Amino acid sequence: MKKTIRDFDLKGKRVLIRVDFNVPLDKNLNVTDDNRIRASLPTIEYALSQGAKVILMSHLGRPEGKPVSSMSLSPATKRLSELLKKEVIQCSDCVGSRVSEELSHLNGVCQVALLENLRFHAAEEKNDAAFAKELAQNGDIYINDAFGSSHRAHASIDGVTKYLPSGAGFLLEKEIQYLGVAMEKPKKPFVAILGGSKVSDKIGMVENLIAKVDKFLIGGAMAYTFLKAQGIEIGSSKYEKDKLDLAKSILEKAKQHKVEIILPVDHIVVQKVDENAASKAEGPGISAGWLGVDIGPKTIELFTKTLDSAKTVIWNGPMGIFEMQSFAKGSYEVTKKLSQLKDATTVIGGGDTAACVIGFGLADKMTHISTGGGASLEYLEGKVLPGIAALQDK
Ligand code: 3PG
Repeated sequence: MKKTIRDFDLKGKRVLIRVDFNVPLDKNLNVTDDNRIRASLPTIEYALSQGAKVILMSHLGRPEGKPVSSMSLSPATKRLSELLKKEVIQCSDCVGSRVSEELSHLNGVCQVALLENLRFHAAEEKNDAAFAKELAQNGDIYINDAFGSSHRAHASIDGVTKYLPSGAGFLLEKEIQYLGVAMEKPKKPFVAILGGSKVSDKIGMVENLIAKVDKFLIGGAMAYTFLKAQGIEIGSSKYEKDKLDLAKSILEKAKQHKVEIILPVDHIVVQKVDENAASKAEGPGISAGWLGVDIGPKTIELFTKTLDSAKTVIWNGPMGIFEMQSFAKGSYEVTKKLSQLKDATTVIGGGDTAACVIGFGLADKMTHISTGGGASLEYLEGKVLPGIAALQDK
């Protein structure tokens, strides 16, 4: 068991919290999706309520070790300040004497500061010990609440824990709780829904889940690789030629584990990927010159019926090109079905799947939507995340 923020006396302390404010910005540098910022509020508010000064740190984008003005964290500071309804100091950097001077302004009136983008220093991604020590000088206690970055062994995630007492924030704790329960004690039947474009992205997850789930539902472009591997015509649909053998071996392994892999029996197909292109449903095979962009109506029925009795569901990867409204029906119907399940734990892997569920307005009907894309995938692959491993044990 790792320590959590509850295990520390925070009164009068400087609490250095690693958050994941790697949020999308529009061309005017406004935050377009503030879910990650909102998700960090319980930890920040708790620390404030205990009388702590809060110093937040995060990365944004991939500036490759040098300052890039369009990747400053000031838009996140502005949004956080609106959400907290409190002033938040935006620091000019994340280490150094100027930052110490800026942080000395934290007082009874203003108790929150956000350091500038950690990745403006190459030392962050190198997990450089001297840089980690400098970061640690900004706080008395370190809390990791950046689940979305916890698969990165970077200075602000791993190195810093060598210099400060450390524990998990509420978001990290919640992510581990829901993803962990699904992995360790799932109520049965346990169904994993996989989609997205690449089999290669999901292979680790399939291998880890195969001994735990009862059924896999596979949609998205990765389904075409599986269909092709079974000798089914897929027209000009996207598939991974070099992963056909892998797909065959997964099908074989599933058989050995008595796990059902349910593939689409029909598809929405077009001749070119264009929202306004003429489309039709066909399947299981796809005619030459046509390509699949979503699961078809018979598949929607098959998948939603399979989900009816599920008690645990993990979903990672959309069913089609959901960003285009004409090809979003499959992902929508799966989301709707999950939102209607009674007594089921529904866990949504981050990234595209989270965006899809949030976009359909049904986020609050899910048990948990992970804030981590790569991190949730690695967690579901059974890997130990460096950001969790580095924290102090109770
Ligand atoms: C994410 O958005 O997945 C995290 O913030 C990690 O970002 P990264 O892939 O650039 O390390």
